[in-house]
Amino acid sequence: MQSPFLTDMLEGLNKTPKVLNSMYFYDKIGDTIFQEIMNMDAYYLPKVELEIIQNQTAEIANRLSSEELDIIELGAGDGVKTVAFLKNMIAAGKKVNYVPLDISPDVLEINKTNILSQIPELSIEPIAGDYFKTMAILKDRKKPKLILFLGSNIGNFKGQRGTDFLKLVKSHMTSEDHLLLGADLKKDPKTVLRAYNDPEGITARFNLNLLSRMNRELKANFDIKKFEHYPYYDPISGSCYSYLVSLENQSVEIADQTILFSKNECIHTEVSQKYSLNDLQELCESAGFEKFQTFLDQKQWFCLALTQ
Ligand code: TRP
Repeated sequence: MQSPFLTDMLEGLNKTPKVLNSMYFYDKIGDTIFQEIMNMDAYYLPKVELEIIQNQTAEIANRLSSEELDIIELGAGDGVKTVAFLKNMIAAGKKVNYVPLDISPDVLEINKTNILSQIPELSIEPIAGDYFKTMAILKDRKKPKLILFLGSNIGNFKGQRGTDFLKLVKSHMTSEDHLLLGADLKKDPKTVLRAYNDPEGITARFNLNLLSRMNRELKANFDIKKFEHYPYYDPISGSCYSYLVSLENQSVEIADQTILFSKNECIHTEVSQKYSLNDLQELCESAGFEKFQTFLDQKQWFCLALTQ
């Protein structure tokens, strides 16, 4: 049987324009490069989000009436920001069970070690798998839930897919549950572009790793030197796109298929949507959320929206 990775890659490469599913960035090497991205000065997102978590979690806790909560994090990552959030929730008097969900089992291991080293008494139940599979567990949990979807991960779903994803989340929630949604806001376009176009080329390595991963795991023969990372930000729509551009006419073998690339042909690999507060509220409303409150950092670069 074909692996889902192979099936998805071939499907995307046979489309016009070519596209690759960004879920596959995060293999072991991709996880490591993504850690480097998170630590780059230019990648402001985790810093401003952490500022909101540090300054406003107590206020967020105040808006949640129940004392005991299941905190379920979608796409949890290494938990660096979440530790601060959990600590502040506990300090605000909440009794929490933490359930991190992530595509990468390796990252979840790091998450657990990291979090337990700082909050040893925390109850933590990691679950590995993609969003769609892991989210199914939400229905079985009976305590009031706070679902965390941080890091502006929602921005990686384009247009209607973002709404559909939030609708799916909502369908797993009861009327007493809340969603805390992290979203990167529209801001000066140079700052946004720099976050996806660092001069050291870390982001380029991250994007190109998807081709190397196909070489490693699918016995493909991409010549990585013949592709280039190209980010593009449109400040009006707020969409930041990442592409891989073929630098020449070339053919690549994957499994028993030959994929042709013409010179300058682009593979679309990622969209990172930026929002105005209004865009964000409309997005939540379109998914059926009725209550909506926002928490911002000083520069107003990022928003945590508490929605129900
Ligand atoms: N998807 C994340 C984001 O939109 C991670 C990311 C950062 C990324 N830089 C990237 C994905 C470059 C693809 C290409 O912020």
